[in-house]
Amino acid sequence: MPANDKNKVTILKLRRQKRQGTKTVLTTAYDYPQANIADGAGVDAILVGDSLGMTTMGYKSTIPVTMEDMIRSAESVSRGAKNAFLIGDMPYMSYQISNEEAVLNAGKFVKAGMDCVKVEGAMVERIKAICDAGIMVMSHLGLTPHTRAKLGGYRVQGKTAAQAEIILEQALALEEAGCSFLLLEGMPRESANMIAKKLTIPVYGIGAGDKVDGQLVIFHDLMGLFWEFKSKFVKRYCEAGQIMQNALKQYAAEVRGGVFPAEENFYAIKEEELEKLLGGGNWKVEKVKYETDQGFPTNHSVTPNTTTKNENKKKVQ
Ligand code: KIV
Repeated sequence: MPANDKNKVTILKLRRQKRQGTKTVLTTAYDYPQANIADGAGVDAILVGDSLGMTTMGYKSTIPVTMEDMIRSAESVSRGAKNAFLIGDMPYMSYQISNEEAVLNAGKFVKAGMDCVKVEGAMVERIKAICDAGIMVMSHLGLTPHTRAKLGGYRVQGKTAAQAEIILEQALALEEAGCSFLLLEGMPRESANMIAKKLTIPVYGIGAGDKVDGQLVIFHDLMGLFWEFKSKFVKRYCEAGQIMQNALKQYAAEVRGGVFPAEENFYAIKEEELEKLLGGGNWKVEKVKYETDQGFPTNHSVTPNTTTKNENKKKVQ
């Protein structure tokens, strides 16, 4: 049985942060290096979001994303994140069909190393079944991409008092069903604030203003790695895509210009091995100069051998 890691973020810490009014920081990650980066930066929680369909697979929506896509990604993230609380996003049609399928698929995320699963919509019965199986659930209300067609597109939700009341009722029912967290997407800050205040569980927001218990921004949005569109609520903290492209341009120029690879990138060969390699074969050494401790041969070139083996041996310095 592994000992508890004292730095691992747990539900207890996340609940405490809500009680104390400390904002929780969430982002997404879809693979090992992103998880390393996010975890190393000290974010509290990482969502392995089905947004990976758009950010890393080039789909136009999250609908085509499968359980296989999600589990492969969840496993990679769980290997890369030591401390962050990990949330696996249940993709379209992984929870809608029956309680049994919902529980089975939620269990696959737990086996992949996730602490919790996220489920879109007010599917109270499904969420209760998952919670009853002992799996933590983050419910996702407001702008729910799986049902975007029903919402008339990607539209801000809870803009009227009546709409906000409905979302509050759904949120209370989900809390009652046992869900541990709520994520509100695409809502006015006042509506989200009202809901966050009425719930005892932590309520996080993505595009839901500053009055919730924490913020989620998609990794690729905040890093500048997604260019298809930029939502109003997104703030870019760097232009990583631009930085990477500039690096690749420099790499290409150096390869084409013969600047890379350079001496520091070459593997060494011992002098006697070089002599064996070049001295007795079909090639002769024109000039060999050892400049470094490791004996990196520099400024040497080889040409077809026209001399005898003994003559060649004398030439190798
Ligand atoms: O998949 C995801 O990243 C999400 C966020 C948009 C909340 O569900």
